[in-house]
Amino acid sequence: MYSRERLNEKAQVIKMDDLLLQKIAGEFGTPLYVYDGDRIESQYRRLKGMLPKEFNVYYSLKSNPTLGIAGLFRGLGSGIEVASAGELYLALQAGFDPRDIIFTSPGKTREELEYAVEHQIYSINIESIAEAELINQIGSLRSRQINVAIRINPDFNLSGAGIKMAGVPTQFGIDQSQLAEAFQSLKSLSFVKIIGIHVYTGTQMLSTQNILANMEAIIKLALELAEQYQFKLEFLDLGGGFGVPYFPGEAPFDETGLRQGMAAVWDTYRNQLPGGVNMAVESGRYLTAESGVFLTQILYTKECKGLKYAVCDGGSNQHANSAFLGRHIRNNFPMHVLGKHELPTELTVVGPLCTPTDVIGQKVMLPAVTPGDIISIDKSGAYGLSNSPLFFLSHPLPAEVVHYQNKTVIIRERGKLEDFVKGQSFIPEMTPLANS
Ligand SMILES: Cc1ncc(COP(=O)(O)O)c(C=O)c1O
Repeated sequence: MYSRERLNEKAQVIKMDDLLLQKIAGEFGTPLYVYDGDRIESQYRRLKGMLPKEFNVYYSLKSNPTLGIAGLFRGLGSGIEVASAGELYLALQAGFDPRDIIFTSPGKTREELEYAVEHQIYSINIESIAEAELINQIGSLRSRQINVAIRINPDFNLSGAGIKMAGVPTQFGIDQSQLAEAFQSLKSLSFVKIIGIHVYTGTQMLSTQNILANMEAIIKLALELAEQYQFKLEFLDLGGGFGVPYFPGEAPFDETGLRQGMAAVWDTYRNQLPGGVNMAVESGRYLTAESGVFLTQILYTKECKGLKYAVCDGGSNQHANSAFLGRHIRNNFPMHVLGKHELPTELTVVGPLCTPTDVIGQKVMLPAVTPGDIISIDKSGAYGLSNSPLFFLSHPLPAEVVHYQNKTVIIRERGKLEDFVKGQSFIPEMTPLANS
């Protein structure tokens, strides 16, 4: 028997190699997402290890909203951060205790708030006073106080995030300049209980200095607000934005530096914070990105006006991020051809869609390929399927599998043609039967 520590050491060295990926693709078909569960586990433990022991990690479900991965995080002891009623439903189905669930979104509907209240989740992170008023009404109908944390868009703009979500004009949170007014209004909402503060400064941060500066600034702000507006800080959600390197020139953040820096920050502030405060970070990308690959098989190769193309069975409809959609920098995701190591030549990798934007690798250097070869788009475990226009051109959803502790299990079945008409109906006069 391995001890827990020994198992963790082992998990860090297990890597899905090409032979294994080829075997998995043979069994489950392509296009296919494959996630390395052992790697996810080790990422979770690494992140926990960088933070003081009092800190809790909330898995950001948006990065990979599957029961399989969410269930893995639940098993590891993680909390979960959800951004819609759909994600909340999934989190509950995955067995999360409502006390480990937080809900953040600038546009929660009344129905979504009622659903969250009904399940008594730990915190609804409110993003406006109008939202707090709605929660107050819901609480008053149930004669119960509802726990909320106030999401703030602070005045500080500590650069470093790939996509900034605070310190600049955004739809997220309550602007720091409006807090006096906001706290005044909150005072009159007797069914809303302020339990804490939330700030999320942005995603894809690769500078340890910036992450630390953000965290420290958020703690200071929360302490000032708790003092000024006289509420007990039970929950302090520092966001996160822990990034991973994808492109040439990017390097991982310095994990040792983060661990030492966080310990120093914690040493400075722990005694100023109330005992037992729930110190939280949220993370999706760091926990899942590097453990997933998207496997797409080459259907055809062709040349056109001097460019070599590989046309694959899965494209930007299933992995929009790799096709530069929603990103401002046109960089190729890291990718490789399974089992091929010859000298690379230039190849443009495209999907099956009839749009010129369906390019998942532009002029990439890859070994010579033939139809049947499988291309692995690496670092695809976060915001792959969840950030893709899946309905575009009606290709069935790819299957998703997890390889964990030497077993490969399917966590989402491949989609079917019927999926595209599910829930649809004809104009009555125009049903095929009416016309026959
Ligand atoms: C409020 C909030 N929390 C957490 C996350 C997850 O970020 P990441 O995947 O960078 O960890 C996001 C991503 O946009 C977010 O908006």
